[in-house]
Amino acid sequence: MIRTVTSPNRTGPGIMRLLHNDPHKIADVRCDAEKWAADQGLMSDVIDSVLIIVSELATNALRYAAGPGIFVQLCAVRLPPDDACGVWIEVWDDARDVMPDRQEPDHIAESGRGLFIVDQITGGFWGAYARRDGKGKAVWAGLKIPAT
Ligand SMILES: Nc1ncnc2c1ncn2[C@@H]1O[C@H](COP(=O)(O)OP(=O)(O)OP(=O)(O)O)[C@@H](O)[C@H]1O
Ligand SMILES: [Mg+2]
Repeated sequence: MIRTVTSPNRTGPGIMRLLHNDPHKIADVRCDAEKWAADQGLMSDVIDSVLIIVSELATNALRYAAGPGIFVQLCAVRLPPDDACGVWIEVWDDARDVMPDRQEPDHIAESGRGLFIVDQITGGFWGAYARRDGKGKAVWAGLKIPAT
């Protein structure tokens, strides 16, 4: 499923990391994301979800759209439709001519699970759009934080 969305309402500081074309950097991005999420005071299950989404989207960017300009961004936002607190995760890559294609993996499939899992975790609130700078695309996911 590909959906576009207007920019979310940012409510706090975020982080952005340039991911060079090196799969080992995914671990660095995960560490940064974990620290940022903990600093936001997020519960451990929400942090786990953030890390899964970051890993899947960043890995896809490296695997299918590798280029010099892969950026991973996270920030706290208010999400539509009800302005709930959430986390916005967005990964920029350099390939605007190929888009994510969520699969319906069966139980013996060895791949095709990443976006399926992102879809499940976010309740379908993710998508991709061609960047306006003409250089590539963004794949985003919005994770609602359950009210405590
Ligand atoms: N950033 C991207 N750019 C281009 N194509 C993408 C991107 N992300 C995903 N895709 C396409 O969407 C498909 C599904 O991605 P998904 O992450 O669900 O599965 P996968 O990467 O094939 O396997 P897995 O994530 O289980 O290792 C990919 O096979 C690829 O064709
Ligand atoms: Mg994948």
